[in-house]
Amino acid sequence: MSLHKPAVMEQQQAHPDQHPANADQPPAVEVLSAEKTYPNGTKALMPVNLRVQEGEFVTLLGPSGCGKSTLLKMVAGLLDASEGKLLLWGKPVEELEQSGRKMAFVFQSPTLMPWASVQSNVRLPLDLAGIDKKEANERVTEALALVGLSKFAHVLPRALSGGMQMRVSIARALVVQPDLLLMDEPFGALDEITRHKLDSDLLDLWRKKKLTVIFVTHSIHEAVFLSSRVVMMAARPGRVVQEFNIDEPYPRTADFMVSPQFSVNAKQLQDSLLLASAEQEEKTS
Ligand SMILES: Nc1ncnc2c1ncn2[C@@H]1O[C@H](COP(=O)(O)OP(=O)(O)OP(=O)(O)O)[C@@H](O)[C@H]1O
Ligand SMILES: [Mg+2]
Repeated sequence: MSLHKPAVMEQQQAHPDQHPANADQPPAVEVLSAEKTYPNGTKALMPVNLRVQEGEFVTLLGPSGCGKSTLLKMVAGLLDASEGKLLLWGKPVEELEQSGRKMAFVFQSPTLMPWASVQSNVRLPLDLAGIDKKEANERVTEALALVGLSKFAHVLPRALSGGMQMRVSIARALVVQPDLLLMDEPFGALDEITRHKLDSDLLDLWRKKKLTVIFVTHSIHEAVFLSSRVVMMAARPGRVVQEFNIDEPYPRTADFMVSPQFSVNAKQLQDSLLLASAEQEEKTS
């Protein structure tokens, strides 16, 4: 079985609710025929092409092992591409700072320092960057307010629930005032209700802070709820197989999740994911 759809749409249409991109600006993210082979010989990604315009909310969806994390880490500059190029606002990731843009990465687990208070955890990137104390404190206060944790600035992470710890991790990302937020299954370990609340809050932040987001999930429902565009990947080797615009207006509320439009989008993604996963099974059997 082979997947019918081409890898990448040439001309990406802007979602009506996307923050308006400056026409003179290059895309926030360009992945140009980027490949990854790990040192042990595992070919994790075939040449991938992906363009993310400023202000988009793009989700990577696909079966386990299809290279979602690998691709996200390459965008972040945490991993080098074996071939091809990755550009952020038209520049290699190492030159991001010169462009005045910032990026932050949120991992699946909150990765907090257990011995340090919530506010010290959130302030860490600013301390590392040598930001002066007064400005750092102001930014930490703002970031904690944005994620609804102002009252918990002085407690240790272990006093918080899993969802609240994840909020700390998001505050630590926001404190650098990122333009681009990369999130690798950030809410995957949380219960459904907490996850939905965090999804809703993330959409509010995305709109309020005019972020560009690339988000990885295994959840079709989360992908439909959040995304302006979903990029479907398949494994062995990892590649992009299909893309979907989710042309539904924001703000998206709980009502959207029980609407016929939601079901139609979810069904499309489910069919595509089944196809992507079936192809993988054929290759392994
Ligand atoms: N450090 C590494 N060394 C060798 N192979 C790796 C390494 N990291 C990942 N891989 C392999 O690369 C492929 C893609 O892995 P990756 O973690 O990017 O997939 P994923 O889509 O994020 O999967 P999951 O949904 O399970 O998180 C897999 O075959 C994986 O085993
Ligand atoms: Mg992964």
